[in-house]
Amino acid sequence: MNLQTTNYQLSSLPYQLSSLEPFISEKLLTLHYQKHHQSYVDNANKLLEQLAAARQAGEAVNYRDTYQALTFNVGGVVLHDLFWNSMSPAEEDHALDVSFKEALEQEFGSIDRFKDEFTQTALAVQGSAWVVLALCKQTKRLMLMQVKDHSLYVYPGCELLMALDMWEHAFYLDYQTDKKGYVERFWSYVNWNGIGERFEKVSAKEAQG
Ligand SMILES: [Fe+2]
Repeated sequence: MNLQTTNYQLSSLPYQLSSLEPFISEKLLTLHYQKHHQSYVDNANKLLEQLAAARQAGEAVNYRDTYQALTFNVGGVVLHDLFWNSMSPAEEDHALDVSFKEALEQEFGSIDRFKDEFTQTALAVQGSAWVVLALCKQTKRLMLMQVKDHSLYVYPGCELLMALDMWEHAFYLDYQTDKKGYVERFWSYVNWNGIGERFEKVSAKEAQG
């Protein structure tokens, strides 16, 4: 069977570049989306082209460096897509879906506790990393993960639901070293509706086995 393959693409933002102000300024979102996110897309595609050319020519590549770079850049594409969709400027998207709320309460005890654990995990990041809420396919439990750089080593075993970028490029222009201010403001822009829908979809898939 021949699969219809494509290259990576810069997905459209689900809102305008100025829509997340004052949480994220237009200038910062423009840089983050059009420069950083775009570079992960471009680099991943360039590496795929290099691999295709080497395969065609029957030549070796530096496998360690090539696949390390490919994993890094693809991780960047996947996580930035998730991050943009984890936020919303629209008031109506900030309502927490009932079954998602119950699942969060079942695992974390309360929504406040979940937010606090997420916030503390974000503030505890050293270097460049992400905080991700995921559904583990093995335990069917919600769990928080700190994802170093963009390394999604556990990704095949987890469905990713929500992400917060804690790389310096995500906040420094607006917040400098005030990571706490950045994370606290994030909560007013969380797209609970979209994340709840993603949760419904993946939990239905997992329930079917
Ligand atoms: Fe980023």
